[in-house]
Amino acid sequence: MFRLQGISASRVALIVSVFWIGSSANLTAQGGDNPHTSLEDVETGQRLFQIHCSRCHGIDAEGDDGPSLRRGRFRRAQSDAGLFRVISDGIADTGMPPIFRRRTDESVWQVVAYLRSINQRPEDISLPGDVEAGRSLYTGAGRCATCHMISGVGSLLGPDLTFVGERRSPDELRADLLEPDHEVAPRWWSVRVTYIDGRTIEGIRMNEDTYSYRLIDADENLWSIAKRDLRESQRIETSTMPSYDDELTVSEVDNLVAYLFSLRTRESAP
Ligand code: HEC
Ligand code: HEC
Repeated sequence: MFRLQGISASRVALIVSVFWIGSSANLTAQGGDNPHTSLEDVETGQRLFQIHCSRCHGIDAEGDDGPSLRRGRFRRAQSDAGLFRVISDGIADTGMPPIFRRRTDESVWQVVAYLRSINQRPEDISLPGDVEAGRSLYTGAGRCATCHMISGVGSLLGPDLTFVGERRSPDELRADLLEPDHEVAPRWWSVRVTYIDGRTIEGIRMNEDTYSYRLIDADENLWSIAKRDLRESQRIETSTMPSYDDELTVSEVDNLVAYLFSLRTRESAP
């Protein structure tokens, strides 16, 4: 590629086109959808993102000092126009600055187009499963509430699932059900302790310091255990959640995934 004083030709073309279109058209975001969504716009948006945003949000927007921008939805914006505003103005009183000073509307829209390309809106995702069938399986035969809590009902032996559709994609939810031992967060590791007299207790580690453990066992009893009373202790890094690979049919898994994915804040629910 030929270079002009160290700047690549494509960069010059980019800068020229951004100024040209940006200054001649008044595209300020007033509720409208993004007028710049071609593949080239997405690619330019990605380049702009890498230059201006990646130092805080990570090179692929997966998050660093700033939050991940790949979670399927944004806390601070619902619409394209909302994203436009967040990116051009920044977010007051947070570490999120306005985009570079000489921004044009077009360049902001291109960044929006890039962010949309890596995030599908939940309402645009259609899933094979049935939400209501998933809900009855969850509360009934699935016995999921023996470990999980939804809206204050259930148990604390697993993560609260009230808003699980916000943090997990449908594929991740499927993996949660079929391969629970894959990437278990330390918060959900268990410990099996053996006292000097031979008694054993096993439970999820609520807390640990130099001298003691606090464990919650499968019956939801809480145990405070002094390490000096123990003969040994063994850390278990697998999940206490059983795999449902052999337990559930394909369509039952689909239904559970559809139900779990629907568990989001009311504003984004269908
Ligand atoms: C100096 C660090 C920094 C830079 C540079 C930065 N951001 Fe951010 N951004 C943040 C932080 C911190 C937040 C979280 C603010 C909050 O909600 O408390 C944030 C929030 C956001 C949000 C809202 C996320 C949500 O869930 O609603 C979007 C969208 C966003 N940034 C996009 C961008 C884009 C696009 C750029 C580049 C043009 C950029 N940011 C540059 C630090 C940064
Ligand atoms: C014996 C307790 C137990 C049962 C029963 C159980 N789970 Fe879990 N579940 C856990 C634990 C512990 C974790 C966290 C560790 C992990 O990732 O596997 C978890 C993780 C999950 C996650 C991931 C949550 C997140 O925030 O990452 C989902 C989704 C989930 N379970 C759904 C279900 C569903 C649906 C059922 C019923 C079919 C079920 N679980 C039954 C204990 C259980």
